[in-house]
Amino acid sequence: MIIKSIKIQNFRCHEDFNFDFKKKTSIIVGENGSGKTSVLEAIYEALRGRSFRAVDKDILKRDADYYRVELDFSDGGKTIVIFGNIDGSSELKKQFLIDGKKTTRLPKKNRYPVVLFLPDDLHLISSSPTRKRDYFDRVLSELDDTYLNILNKYEKSLKQRNDLLKKYTEDGIEGLRSVIFSWNFMLSKYGVEIRKKRKRFIDEINNRITNTYHSIADNNDEVRIIYEMQGDECSEEEYLKRLENELQRDLILGHTGFGVHRDNFIFLFNKTGADGSASRGEVRSIILAQKFIEAELIFNKTRKKPVVLLDDVFSELDEKRQKSLTQNFKDNQVIITSVEIAK
Ligand SMILES: Nc1ncnc2c1ncn2[C@@H]1O[C@H](COP(=O)(O)OP(=O)(O)OP(=O)(O)O)[C@@H](O)[C@H]1O
Ligand SMILES: [Mg+2]
Repeated sequence: MIIKSIKIQNFRCHEDFNFDFKKKTSIIVGENGSGKTSVLEAIYEALRGRSFRAVDKDILKRDADYYRVELDFSDGGKTIVIFGNIDGSSELKKQFLIDGKKTTRLPKKNRYPVVLFLPDDLHLISSSPTRKRDYFDRVLSELDDTYLNILNKYEKSLKQRNDLLKKYTEDGIEGLRSVIFSWNFMLSKYGVEIRKKRKRFIDEINNRITNTYHSIADNNDEVRIIYEMQGDECSEEEYLKRLENELQRDLILGHTGFGVHRDNFIFLFNKTGADGSASRGEVRSIILAQKFIEAELIFNKTRKKPVVLLDDVFSELDEKRQKSLTQNFKDNQVIITSVEIAK
């Protein structure tokens, strides 16, 4: 599937913008603030059902009463997104029209896979464990239908356990021990499942990442991601024991100190931490290698070639790396923004 054209009205700075995608790779060039990222945002909105950076009322062009995005596809399909006071009421509402059928949310079967590169992704390598977990959890949720479900169950159980830790004092620890058991049990069951899936996913990335990196940078650099499990890999029984053993400490702290919500991911570049050793162009190339792999894994799962949206991807990449970037995505529809025309 290919996006044939886009029509945007009252979407951020765009009052009325139309564009036909004549080739598989398109580059949107413009000055700062000319609305390049907004075009990617509109495409993403129609393919995934929501923005990657804001809520609808921030997207709506100032002083306009509706926005509209229309994508026409090569297979004859059409997705329209409208946000505004659709039915004449003062309340702002959102509506999707898919091949003429109205819905309030974009149904799962109509969501098309997207690989998105945002300049902010470059911070992933040096970001906090929370942000890295969020990133990998989001990608993994796309690739594994059960993962998000297990993660949600884990998070609900964690909240219940933390609520209990706040409710009890140290004098009541024995009473707490009996009521908290079922949450410890749930956390160890889901926690071990989450770790298994994360580990398998990172193994899949590691099997590819150095070679993929070499397809952008023709050299001998080695890239690896380490999934760092707090307290090392363990069985459900060991996980449960640790939660039980740390109950007193958790009670004093008022939250759960051990678990997959504390695990981390570390990027290695030539066996040392990439955040301290890789150059800016190298960091960009590592993240792009990660995106190529995501595109491949998404295709393997869905048999659909994801649409690739690359925001301001060329800066800091030398000519050779810019060329290999488009070469790597040659089977995908790629839409790139840039402040200058690519060499
Ligand atoms: N709701 C809105 N209504 C009107 N204008 C808006 C709205 N939201 C953002 N803008 C403006 O739209 C413009 C386009 O923003 P966008 O982020 O798409 O620009 P860009 O071309 O990607 O810029 P850069 O090169 O700096 O990344 C900006 O000037 C921004 O201030
Ligand atoms: Mg931008």
